[in-house]
Amino acid sequence: MNRSSASYPFVLDEGAWEAPYFLAPVAGYSDAAFRAVCAEMGAALCYTEMVSAEALVRGHIKTKELLERDPAERVYAIQLFGASPATLAAAAEIVSVYQPVVIDLNCGCPVPKIIKAGAGSALLKTPGKIGNIVRAMRDATRIPISVKLRTGWDSDSINYLETAGAAIEAGACAITLHGRTRAQGYTGKADWDAIRDLSARAPVPVFGSGDVFSAGAAADMRARTGCAGVMIARGALGNPFIFAELRKSGSIREINAHFIAETMERHLSLAVQHFGEKRACIEFRKHFCVYTKGLSGGAPLRARAVRCSTFKEFAEIFNELKG
Ligand SMILES: Cc1cc2nc3c(=O)[nH]c(=O)nc-3n(C[C@H](O)[C@H](O)[C@H](O)COP(=O)(O)O)c2cc1C
Repeated sequence: MNRSSASYPFVLDEGAWEAPYFLAPVAGYSDAAFRAVCAEMGAALCYTEMVSAEALVRGHIKTKELLERDPAERVYAIQLFGASPATLAAAAEIVSVYQPVVIDLNCGCPVPKIIKAGAGSALLKTPGKIGNIVRAMRDATRIPISVKLRTGWDSDSINYLETAGAAIEAGACAITLHGRTRAQGYTGKADWDAIRDLSARAPVPVFGSGDVFSAGAAADMRARTGCAGVMIARGALGNPFIFAELRKSGSIREINAHFIAETMERHLSLAVQHFGEKRACIEFRKHFCVYTKGLSGGAPLRARAVRCSTFKEFAEIFNELKG
């Protein structure tokens, strides 16, 4: 791979590429409501959680629920997973009507069920197949295709240059590299040197992923690796404020209990609009727990929140937090 001038791989809002901090795809968390909150806080781009190409094509999932975005989220990215070039191509065509700025192919999921189906990080074993899938997806849609990789299957088979090379040759507009192998799961330290190496060599923009738990770490990753964008996953859960801290304009409100409660209220209201009160409240329980992690007096509130089933019940807790 030879690096040439890396131009922007897809269109974001004006100025967004100057602060390219993205909400990563996070299964179970990055739904329309949370993405809208992150976008409002200043995330330059948010990714949907990985969506099954197979289920989309078979009509087995409620596409609208999974793919619709809130008006507050002006641009977004859709991530697909699957194993068959034809199915992923058909899925790319289906999701194109939602006008994401980019469609991303998941080549990193370490979940055994996904791997068994030949999807996610199983694809790391066959770079040629990644190329075939990207080519098929590109032929099926005019929306740019990107790929999210891990460094390799395990420490004996680090092959991110090869997998990225195959994806780029097939027409991927950008690569995200999570600096861990499939075998590492989410343990150990993410290898930022690999992100730096790929960023220096790839002829397309590279986004870094792994171990960005603070605004400082995000800026540090960009500075140390030269990556074109930073994806934040665990560091954004219960902490969409990280994007406000990173937003170029700078100054943000103090992140106190009042601000956290206000943000949770906004988040839950959006979730109710999108998914209905019952589902929104059940799913919000886990968000409540991460929003209030480390907050003094949070434990008894969490014990109550995990039993809340209505907006009103949550609102009572929010009001207590607001004081
Ligand atoms: C609960 C959870 C769900 C995830 N879901 C996805 C997913 O759907 N697609 C994907 O490409 N990566 C997924 N990831 C991986 C993240 O996007 C990210 O690459 C990884 O967590 C490393 O970044 P972090 O250190 O900022 O968490 C998930 C990670 C977690 C912890």
